Amino acid sequence: RRRGRHPRGGGGWPGHGGPERSRGVSDFDVVVLGAGAAGLFAAMRAGQRGRRVLLLDHAEEPGKKILISGGGRCNFTNTGCVPDRFISANRHFARSALARFTQHDFIALVRKHGIAFHEKTLGQLFCDGSARQIVQMLLAECEAAGVDLRLRHRVTDVARADRFTIATDHGTFRAESLVLATGGLSIPKMGATGFAHDVARRFGLPIVTPAPGLVPLTFDGSALDLMRPLAGVALPVVARAGRAAFPEAMLFTHRGLSGPAILQASSYWQPGGPMTIDLLPGQDATTLLLSAKRARPKAEPRTILADWLPQRLAQSMAASHLPPRIMGELGDAALKALGALLRSWRLEPAGTEGYAKAEVTLGGIDTAALSSKTMAATAVPGLFVIGEAVDVTGWLGGYNFQWAWSSGWAAGEAA
Ligand code: FDA
Repeated sequence: RRRGRHPRGGGGWPGHGGPERSRGVSDFDVVVLGAGAAGLFAAMRAGQRGRRVLLLDHAEEPGKKILISGGGRCNFTNTGCVPDRFISANRHFARSALARFTQHDFIALVRKHGIAFHEKTLGQLFCDGSARQIVQMLLAECEAAGVDLRLRHRVTDVARADRFTIATDHGTFRAESLVLATGGLSIPKMGATGFAHDVARRFGLPIVTPAPGLVPLTFDGSALDLMRPLAGVALPVVARAGRAAFPEAMLFTHRGLSGPAILQASSYWQPGGPMTIDLLPGQDATTLLLSAKRARPKAEPRTILADWLPQRLAQSMAASHLPPRIMGELGDAALKALGALLRSWRLEPAGTEGYAKAEVTLGGIDTAALSSKTMAATAVPGLFVIGEAVDVTGWLGGYNFQWAWSSGWAAGEAA
């Protein structure tokens, strides 16, 4: 068996015995569109099964989002990966793929390649070295599986008769199976496009309206007036949106709020709706304030609050929610009101920072049109959709890559 090689530019090298050519058209068993996390994994698995696989991407480099992920160290999975950490119109859809290629399977692959890693927090696994090691691992596996990777290929048309025909600016390809792995809409300046959604629509697959997920929230009016001067202040909170609650860090920004707690809650926040923030998790703020009034009646409220909150936030909360008096002169009602606010600060975000800052895309190709076992489109024989293009979105913490690996594996087994 000849091995595939990995071109840097538009040229191509044959995989398993090379493509069959007729009238300028190259034939493969499987064409995978998108050499990101999901596409690389699906191509690898299909190649391992002996399929002749072509992997196409319009970018000049594969796995660009892997390279920038996790601050350059790639949070490649989560040891606690369970289906309820994924958002989808069908909350059971991810279960099958996640069970058939688990986080433990991916960790075993990382170990096989001798990549050192560590758990940062909450089961999140990161490379000790660089995210590039994960891309190199995937490329090595694809190469060993004979995958023909071609970069800088712009797809100009996709059609289906007895086989799929994929027209590009570097020639036309035909395949029995087409795997759509071109991701979602987040970070357009890195090459994200609505391509998967457009192709899906063309084949009659329904789309769950996409929206930015894992994204900073923006505010206006008096909320922003309070937040803007606090830009850079971070603290542990519990952020709640809908029925979800995230005990993690929050960060004030010039436009509103960010940090892991807010990014997580943003995926559950409904535009126009409220969210709440517990600024003193695990403590009863009202009891603390009433005891402080008795114990330190001469103290200024901002000094008291600074025992529990970052100083700038303590000052701002005292100035905006209490009259300018010492603790002993404040009525219990005012302290109780502040206590209630610290426990459950109700906010109405104006919006999000959009796809430019979103780590992921919520929504996408409706799972109702796909097999949860193989990721195949039930009404379009030979078409598969994987990764972020699908209406399955993970929490922050390595879940989205695990979805890319698991859904890619499922399609690679069947395509
Ligand atoms: P992905 O976007 O990775 O790949 C799609 C591929 O398709 C790209 O190579 C693109 O060039 C190509 N493509 C797009 N349109 C095309 C077209 N028209 N023609 C040809 N090719 C086309 N997740 C996680 O679990 N842990 C983490 O640490 C992080 N960190 C992180 C940081 C940042 C800044 C972002 C933006 C995102 C993360 N994520 C993450 C999320 C994670 O990156 C994301 O869920 C996966 O990359 C999705 O994998 P896919 O392969 O589906 O799409």
